[in-house]
Amino acid sequence: RPRVFSGIQPTAGSFHLGNYLGAVRQWIPLQESHDAFYSVVDLHAITVPQDPKALREATRLAAAQLLGAGLDPERCTLFVQSHVPEHTQLAWVLNCVTGFGEASRMTQFKDKSAKQGAEATTVGLFTYPILQAADILLYQTDRVPVGEDQRQHVELTRDLAQRFNGRHGELFRLPSPHILKEAAKIWDLQDPHSKMSKSGSSPKGIVWMLDPPKTSAKKFRSAVTDTGTEVRYDPEHKPGLSNLLTIYSALSGLSVAELEEKFTGQLYGPLKTELAELFTEWVTPIQARTREFLDDPAELDRVLAAGAEKARPVAAETLARVHEAVGFLPGL
Ligand code: TYM
Repeated sequence: RPRVFSGIQPTAGSFHLGNYLGAVRQWIPLQESHDAFYSVVDLHAITVPQDPKALREATRLAAAQLLGAGLDPERCTLFVQSHVPEHTQLAWVLNCVTGFGEASRMTQFKDKSAKQGAEATTVGLFTYPILQAADILLYQTDRVPVGEDQRQHVELTRDLAQRFNGRHGELFRLPSPHILKEAAKIWDLQDPHSKMSKSGSSPKGIVWMLDPPKTSAKKFRSAVTDTGTEVRYDPEHKPGLSNLLTIYSALSGLSVAELEEKFTGQLYGPLKTELAELFTEWVTPIQARTREFLDDPAELDRVLAAGAEKARPVAAETLARVHEAVGFLPGL
């Protein structure tokens, strides 16, 4: 079976709807058709300052949310990145085949470091995409299910793999991004020109998966839309409305065309109200399942330890071949 790998950062509070619709939602069916590896990437999280206690909580919370959303440890390998030390080890080797200019061109780094200022920006944030490449290449991954904002990192991963293979022989499988066209980018509900993101969005523009559904319903009802009256998908002229249609479509399974038809002749109000209700119905059982996993941290830790145990031999095999290829002496 083809292999997929993807990762998500632990965040205090919860995932937002963009994380869910852009990435996690695709992870679930891929468990059935693919050999799937999913990781809570705590090594990536410390590229910005983290409180240790909060990070531990966020890591468990991330795992609970993934299980609550429908990942099944019997069908996929779910683990915490720092439990598999091969990630850091391969990242070092890849650091040494990555050009400084090449890394400098990563747009996420440029955006984040510009916001933080040079003094507050760590070298870890700079080499972040190279660690991500290590995550992907260790597992000989075919496809990487992510949102649009990760495309450039997957492309860098391919470039590094090709370069390494060119120098040392066909060692890494070349991964492709697996990006859902319809929900590749979910936008801020208050500012439909910027993506929904934990760092960039206004409090009213971001929908948190674990917030009380009432709070999120209110955000849908007060989402920014244009002053027109026609419910029509048109991202250029009606970005706010189009974003709501995208979300509605993803949650309901109805196509955007079907939704345009359904809301013909209606103003935006009914669409927003129905979306708020649909979201509430959809998120309530996910929250309940997440809470069940959170209530049993010992079981959660057991699931994660078992996941790391499944991941390690796969990662170790690739790393051993890499070490041999670059000329390291075999260890003891
Ligand atoms: P992270 O934790 O920022 O986001 C997790 C996933 O959510 C997607 N996403 C979105 N999709 C649609 N609309 C949005 N507004 C939106 N915001 C976030 C992201 O594209 C991502 O798929 N670098 C990665 C984590 C990572 C990784 C990996 C991913 C580490 N190693 C290896 C794939 C493979 C990140 O920070 O995602």
